[in-house]
This record gives sequence, C-alpha cells and structure tokens, in this order.
Amino acid sequence: MAVLVTGGAGFIGSHTCVELLNSGRDIVVIDDFSNSKPQALDAIKKITGKDFKFYEINYLDREKLEKVFEENRIDSVLNFAGFKAVGESTAKPIEYYINNVSGALVLLDTMKKYGVKKFVFSSSATVYGDPKTIPITEDCPTGGTTNPYGTTKLFIEQILKDIYASDNTWDIAILRYFNPVGAHKSGLIGEEPKGRPNNLMPFVARVAAGILDELSVYGNDYNTPDGTGVRDYIHVVDLAKGHIKALEKLDKEQKGLYIYNLGTGTGYSVLDMVKAFESSTGKKVAYKIVDRRPGDIAMCYANPQKAKEELGWSAELTIEDMCKDSWNYIEKNS
Ligand code: WQD
Repeated sequence: MAVLVTGGAGFIGSHTCVELLNSGRDIVVIDDFSNSKPQALDAIKKITGKDFKFYEINYLDREKLEKVFEENRIDSVLNFAGFKAVGESTAKPIEYYINNVSGALVLLDTMKKYGVKKFVFSSSATVYGDPKTIPITEDCPTGGTTNPYGTTKLFIEQILKDIYASDNTWDIAILRYFNPVGAHKSGLIGEEPKGRPNNLMPFVARVAAGILDELSVYGNDYNTPDGTGVRDYIHVVDLAKGHIKALEKLDKEQKGLYIYNLGTGTGYSVLDMVKAFESSTGKKVAYKIVDRRPGDIAMCYANPQKAKEELGWSAELTIEDMCKDSWNYIEKNS
C-alpha cells in the first residue's frame, strides 16, 4: 500500500517525502511544478536511496488523478498541493480558490470513489486570523483570516469537518503549520520561492548571500518586546516528522478527525531572527525599518502541547539549526 503525496516536489512536500521513505513507507508523488522543480524529486531519491512513482499532473485533472488511483494501491493521502503566497493571494483570489479549494474537492471526491479515507491536510496558523489568545491552542477560535490564502485553508478545514460529519469512517488529520523555515541538512532540498521572497527567512538568507541588498523590516511599532513581528518558526524537518506521527495516529485510530498545531511554542521577533542568522552563520544581514505590511499581525505562536500528548511529537531543532540549514541551502544552490 502507498501514501499519495500531492505537491511532493514542493518545500514541505519534498521534506515529508524524505521522512516517509526513511520511515519505510511506499509513496506515490504527484506535482505539476507550478511552484516546485523536478530536481527536488532526484534529490529525494539521492537523500533516501529509495525510488518512487511520480506523475506530473495537476490534481484538478480528475481523469489523470483517477489514473493514479487505478494504477496504484493508495491507502492514504497527504495533501501539500496548493498555492501559498499570502500577498499573491490578495491579487489572485480566483486562482487561489480554484487551485486550493476546488483542487482539494476533486482530490477528496476521487478518494471517496476509490474508498480511500485516510487524509492529512496541510493547514496553517493563518486560520486563527489575529489570534484571540497567545500561545494558541487548537480550540482557539478560527476565522477572521486576513487574506484569501488563509481563507482557502479555513474553507478546506470546514469541508473536512462536513465530510467527517457525513461519514465518520473517514480518518482525517488537520495540521496547522506555524512558520516553516530551514532545509534538509544535505542542502539538496529547500525553500525556492518564485521571484522575490515574501517570507522572512528566504529573504534574510538571500541578503546574507548578497543576492538581495537589504531586508525591509515591516514595522517596529507592534506591541511586542522589540516592536517587530513575532512568529513561531519551525524547522521544516521537524514539521515533516510531524506528518509521520500524524499518519501513525490515523493508522492506529482508523477513524476520526484530529486537529494539531505544529509549532515550537516559542516566538521570535524579526530582529531576533536577524541576530540569530548573523550569529549562526557569521554573515551580516543589512536591514532597514519600513512601514507595516498590510494584513500582518503582531504576534503568533503555538501551544504545541496537544501534538506532544496525542502524537508523541514535538519540535527538536533550534533556531540556530533553522538559520544554518537555510544558509547551507542557499550556499549550495545559488
Ligand atoms: C514573518 C514576519 C513579517 C518578510 C506566512 C503565511 C503562513 C506561512 C508562513 C505558508 C512578519 C516579517 C517578512 C520581510 C519582514 N505560509 N517580514 N520583512 O506572514 O507570518 O506567515 O508565511 O504556510 O501561512 O501567512 O510569514 O515570513 O512573511 O513574515 O519584516 O521581507 O517577518 O512582517 O512579522 P507570515 P512571513
């Protein structure tokens, strides 16, 4: 039996494929390379020494997706496919709703047709909007999302809850990521944002590498220790391992709908990250303070206790690991 990984050539997907193969599972990967590169697939094989089937398809293509289920014995699905740039989503809401929400619906409907009901969804802390309480627990209210990207995640979570309410033999894990950063220690896979990076860590790493000239710090007048935005940065390898634990939970329970925050439980400010990157790598990161970015919130970090108790998972890698591994990837790939 195999795990189907949609978006398996992407940043989170490729790191999770490595951990799936390392844990002895068979995988089948689909990706359309709209936000990833074919080289990631060779890198996964090189890192693990294992092979796997790949289909270059868009998961919206029902006929091609059904062929994957016809040709393989799929028993679970990890859904990483989806657009994920907050700023881009405000400019292209229709593309985001079609790709993320309609894509998930085609995938879930196809799973139902083939009797596959084990599903792990790549959700996001953005579903909490501007969180009512910090640190954030899974029972904190969701909603009030500030961009279409976050709203697509909220909609898909609701779709999954409705599916489970209609048929409680489904086996679903919703994983709410905080801020994934870093790269596999090999430097063979990492974050490759299209064009100018939206997110902090890839931008910092490219300033350190001299690819970009300086970091714009979006505001230092927030109600935070140093005035800059605070986030819960989590190493992408820790995040990937969280998916293995979630699959094990679903294997054990055989049915249910489970929601987990995947974060470290520690918040770092933008300036904390700049200092951590400089001390971890010895590289200088030039920056200037500019106006706030529309849609940004002041603070967001997790209470990761539920995942620790129910999945036996907690993040292990440090902020230094995140900075060093990000830098290692840039050094090896720029
Ligand atoms: C982090 C902090 C910025 C860039 C988003 C998505 C989330 C997830 C991670 C997919 C904030 C500041 C950033 C820059 C800056 N994506 N910043 N200058 O917005 O917390 O979360 O990415 O899973 O779902 O919402 O991440 O890295 O963009 O920003 O000052 O050039 O860095 O203001 O305080 P964010 P981010």
